[in-house]
Formats: sequence, C-alpha cells, structure tokens
Amino acid sequence: MSTIAIFGATGFVGTGLTLKLLDQGHNVVALSRHPKKWPLQHQNLKVIKGDILTAQLEEMLSEVDAVYYLVHGLEEDSADFEYLEAKSALRLAQAASSVKLNKIIYLGGLGPDEDLSSHLRSRHLVGGILGLTHTCIEFRASIVLGAQSTSFEMLKALAHRMPVRPVASWLDNPCQPIAFTDLLTYLVEALKVEVKGHTVVEIGSQEVVAYGDLLDLVARLENLIRPHFQVPPVDQRLLLPMLDVVLPEFSEVAKKLFLSLVHPTVVTDSKAQELFPEIQPMGLEAAMKSALENSTSVYPAPWEGDFWKEVADLTLAQTKLGQEIVVEKLNLLTQGYSEKILNRLKRRK
Ligand SMILES: NC(=O)c1ccc[n+]([C@@H]2O[C@H](COP(=O)([O-])OP(=O)(O)OC[C@H]3O[C@@H](n4cnc5c(N)ncnc54)[C@H](OP(=O)(O)O)[C@@H]3O)[C@@H](O)[C@H]2O)c1
Repeated sequence: MSTIAIFGATGFVGTGLTLKLLDQGHNVVALSRHPKKWPLQHQNLKVIKGDILTAQLEEMLSEVDAVYYLVHGLEEDSADFEYLEAKSALRLAQAASSVKLNKIIYLGGLGPDEDLSSHLRSRHLVGGILGLTHTCIEFRASIVLGAQSTSFEMLKALAHRMPVRPVASWLDNPCQPIAFTDLLTYLVEALKVEVKGHTVVEIGSQEVVAYGDLLDLVARLENLIRPHFQVPPVDQRLLLPMLDVVLPEFSEVAKKLFLSLVHPTVVTDSKAQELFPEIQPMGLEAAMKSALENSTSVYPAPWEGDFWKEVADLTLAQTKLGQEIVVEKLNLLTQGYSEKILNRLKRRK
C-alpha cells in the first residue's frame, strides 16, 4: 500500500483513477480548487483545497510515493492556457525536487512532435517539464472512450446533433482511441513499472480509424441515419463559430481540439507492449459500445423539429441541391448565433 498524490483528481480521468487506487488499498491525497463540488469520500482519501498555481505543494508531497499529474486547464482563457499549463507543471516539478519522490505519472495527448496545434504542443510541453528532473512516465492517448470523457461526449453530441456527417480532409486523419477501462489499467500498472528518466508511452485500442469513421460508428451504434455531406474546402478556422452552435456546452474545448484534427493521433511504437505486455486493449467497437451504454447524456439539437425537414429525404441530401440547402441552413444557424452574441454585447454596454 502506498500513498499517492493526484493533481487533477476531480476531473474525468482523475475520478476514475482515484476510485481504482482506493479500491486497491492505496491512500490518496488530492488537490482541488473546488473540493466541495466533488462527491467522493473515503477514509483513505484526503482532499486539500488549493490551486496548483499558488498552493504550497511541498507539504502535500512530503509523504507520497508517487504523483499522478492530470491537471488540465483547457477551458481557461485561451490566450493564456499554454502558459498556465506550463507554469503549473513547473510548480509541481519544483516542489517535487525538494522531496523524495519515486515517480510522476502523467497523461498527455497522442500526436507527433512537429507542427503541433497549441493544444498538443501544450500537452507535450507539460510532459517535457515533468520529465526534465524526475522519473516520469508520460502516457499519450488519443480520444478516451468513456461516459463523461469530454472528447467522447463531443463525438456523441456531434453525431446526434448534425443531420449529416461532414466529409472533409481533416476528418480523414487517423486516430486510435482508447477505452477508459484500459486507460485506467495502464495508469495503475505504471506504479509497478521500473523506468529511468522521461519515458513516453503511446497507448490506444487495437484499431486505427479516421475521425470521420468514428462519427459513422457512433451513428450506427445509436441507430442514427447520417448521410455524408461534403464540406466545401475552407480554412478550418472559418468553421470555428459553427462549434458555438453545434457544441455550445463544449465550445472552448471543442475549438482547441478541432484544430488538432489535422494531426494523426496514432500509436507509433511498441513501448506500451514492451512495458505492459499483460495489457491487451479492447477493440474499438467494443470500447465505443461500452462508452455509449454507460453514457446518460442526451444532446437534443436546439433547432430540432421542422428546421431540417427539407433534407430529411436522404436522397435529396446527397444531391447538389440538397447540399446547398444544408449550407443555407448552417448559415442561418450561425447568423442567428452571431445576432444573439451581438445583442448580448449591446446589453452589456
Ligand atoms: N478526456 C480525454 O478524452 C483525454 C484524452 C487524452 C488525454 N487526456 C489527458 O488526460 C488528462 C486529464 O484530462 P481530463 O479529461 O480528466 O481533464 P478534466 O476532466 O478537465 O480535469 C481537469 C482537472 O484539472 C484540475 N485543475 C485544473 N486547473 C487546476 C488548478 N489551477 N489547480 C488545481 N487543479 C486544477 C481540475 O481540478 P479542480 O477543478 O477540482 O480544481 C480537474 O480535476 C489531461 O492531461 C488530458 O490532456 C484526456
């Protein structure tokens, strides 16, 4: 039995990990800015209120054997988020240097090291900072398939809300999602694995799939009919306002992840198999099915009803006229949205 500190324990990955570590008899110390909002309670769980950017971390680390780093501030003001992510990792690394700590285990993002979007660049930079001075296992994962995982919920919301499945070059890029249960197994097993220095471990399910095909998979498993719709070739950034309309509850995160779609997020080496030969990640369809079965969220489109009725005839949606109608409808949606924003700004003045 060890004492483990988790930074980011209250988040999606952190909550599942905390439960698993407590189940295995470990003591867990967690830092959270909003501990009262977190319902978990256990005799071996100690939750400390604090912000990693300002809290005294040395005391919290003085008795711990290993640290999980899952802090994620993607929803912070976008101008500052890379700086804040790096600063919080640096604070942890500095505090960890002053105590005896065996290992830092960090979960970052899967993707190449070059030409990164700011989201991926920030994930890799955090790993680099933590691994500079400590033994650090940096897991890199693509979309995590689990109920309440932001990236999974966005996929589900998109499949439910969009009357068509967009076809665009950036949706042809490959990814390799991972089942949440497999991810947790890797994270927990990492406590036992001996590594030296900074070790990057890329993890994913058994199959590689295009992002667009993932949307098709959700639609198929949810019994939704979503004809393919060719998106005119435009700069991806021009489509960002659409995300405010289609994914209002995820809009800031969605915009950052949307720009990451240009990168393949696939496993490129066999490190995971070498270090964790006993873990056999489940197949993609089984992972998606399990996530959908456990997900209770519903994503009704605010424009449901008659709005799309002209393209309800699926053969029309495949024609040039049908595609023009879809574009017109999407324009109407964004215009409506822009007007709402302008009105809100006027009211504030
Ligand atoms: N979810 C996915 O699909 C996915 C996929 C691949 C990789 N990952 C990686 O997995 C890691 C965890 O992701 P997640 O989805 O679990 O994130 P999440 O649900 O957004 O959780 C973020 C956590 O960070 C904590 N946090 C943020 N700012 C903080 C601050 N200033 N001080 C203290 N704590 C702070 C939050 O705690 P409080 O709000 O309680 O303070 C929360 O527990 C990230 O590195 C992410 O890149 C996730």
